[in-house]
Amino acid sequence: MKLAVANQKGGVGKTTLAFHLIHAWAEEGRRVLAVDMDPQGDLTGSLWSGDLPQSALVARVFEGKGITPLEVEEGIALVAAEISLSVHEKDLSLKNYFRLKTWLDTLGNRFDAVVVDCPPSLGLFTINALVAAQWVVAPVDVSLYSVRALGDLLGSLEELREIGEGAKLLGVAPFAFAARQRATRAVQELLEEEYGDLLFSWVIPSSARVREALILGRPVWKLKRDEQAVGESFRRLALEIWNRACGGGRG
Ligand SMILES: Nc1ncnc2c1ncn2[C@@H]1O[C@H](COP(=O)(O)OP(=O)(O)OP(=O)(O)O)[C@@H](O)[C@H]1O
Ligand SMILES: [Mg+2]
Repeated sequence: MKLAVANQKGGVGKTTLAFHLIHAWAEEGRRVLAVDMDPQGDLTGSLWSGDLPQSALVARVFEGKGITPLEVEEGIALVAAEISLSVHEKDLSLKNYFRLKTWLDTLGNRFDAVVVDCPPSLGLFTINALVAAQWVVAPVDVSLYSVRALGDLLGSLEELREIGEGAKLLGVAPFAFAARQRATRAVQELLEEEYGDLLFSWVIPSSARVREALILGRPVWKLKRDEQAVGESFRRLALEIWNRACGGGRG
């Protein structure tokens, strides 16, 4: 199963969600490949703190080379990104949009799940992810602007489908950043109206522990002073995403 976590809006929880999906599925005994498509390298930094071998960098596919994923822990391998990836962003030749897909296709069934974290734009790197994946999950912050933000992503998915490529939107994962409960509920209702059953039922609550989890490189449910609610939400959302993807989408 290949899944991209995408939304061109910045700071909505893409990397946080990708990180927790990767851990939740690996803990279930699945072999998970984490692919960082963002030159900011946030997912890479949360999964690996040592030196990065050149052979594990996603940038290599844009040079027509293969990658040796880095084994970061039991069940999790990483294809890493760092800022140098951005030099490839300007090469918009057609084959550059298919680089990730072409390389992932060489892996056969080495992994049960591939999770691709995207940068906050609809440029070359996100398009590579959308072309390579079967499914897209879009985290949205439960704020008024987030409702509108998904339109462009949906437009790109539509265009890719017209040329016979690209993932389907599996669902929208709401992150409740906003502290004010009433405002959050109102926006949630709006999201429900807009996306209906595309909306996953597990809302990720706001918690300062989430940021800490990524800094420490451990999922939030593994922190010492565990915050039950947020850890449980991530796990249930991971299960819901897995079941929906393996069931062929919603309904
Ligand atoms: N449930 C949460 N509660 C509180 N803070 C959160 C939560 N989820 C994510 N954050 C914080 O919000 C910030 C943005 O999250 P994240 O980096 O996952 O977003 P992103 O969409 O990947 O951002 P970018 O577009 O820059 O890649 C981070 O500081 C993260 O720790
Ligand atoms: Mg990110």
